[in-house]
Amino acid sequence: MGTILKLENLNYSYIDGGYERQILKDLSYEFEEGKFYTVLGPSGSGKTTLLSIISGLDTASSGKIYFNNQDIEELGLHNYRRNSIAIVFQQYNLIGYLSAVENVEVAMCETDNKLPKDTRNVAYNLLERFGIVRTKAERLVGQLSGGEQQRVAIARALASNVDLIFADEPTGNLDTATEQEIIAIFKELAHDFGKTIIVVTHSNTVAEMSDNRVLLRDGKLNSL
Ligand SMILES: Nc1ncnc2c1ncn2[C@@H]1O[C@H](COP(=O)(O)OP(=O)(O)OP(=O)(O)O)[C@@H](O)[C@H]1O
Ligand SMILES: [Mg+2]
Repeated sequence: MGTILKLENLNYSYIDGGYERQILKDLSYEFEEGKFYTVLGPSGSGKTTLLSIISGLDTASSGKIYFNNQDIEELGLHNYRRNSIAIVFQQYNLIGYLSAVENVEVAMCETDNKLPKDTRNVAYNLLERFGIVRTKAERLVGQLSGGEQQRVAIARALASNVDLIFADEPTGNLDTATEQEIIAIFKELAHDFGKTIIVVTHSNTVAEMSDNRVLLRDGKLNSL
């Protein structure tokens, strides 16, 4: 399988109290299609920063990011965000005044990717696939458990038919059993749906379940 996301000589620093702290230092790495990666690294090493940059939410001060061999700046960051990536957050970040199924449907309106017309049914089916039955799908998301909300967030990520799914500590608020279930879903997305999954985690259990483990340390990414 080929490279889907290539990071080339990325540099990034924060200015903090007049002092410059370099977070990414000539960081280069290639992520392959259809694999489930975990990114590990000490607190403050820049994992969340790196996810923001590879999501096109922030830009590196120098270096390039290629999605399917195309520079994402040339592709347009807005396009890249709409059509190529989805993010799953530790806090789920669902829309509280909408039901689970509506949360998934909304994502389908925010992409130019070709999707089936019958968005409501597609959303129900996706949710059901991840264990959210119809009665739960119709509840406001705040009335679901943390594990259920994270399943909704994953269904939402999948709904827009993007190739890359990023997650920042997606099981940070969940118990161990639920964590295992959520990680099994990420594995399924990579292996059965061909998605490339990049999950930032502090959990060794999560890392052990992934195909590739990558360490962010001293501004660089290295395979473990
Ligand atoms: N907007 C900002 N301005 C200044 N410094 C920042 C900013 N955002 C993050 N930092 C600093 O950059 C460093 C890396 O932060 P980042 O959040 O990427 O780390 P992390 O690896 O995700 O850590 P954790 O595992 O604790 O989530 C930290 O020292 C942080 O304080
Ligand atoms: Mg972080």
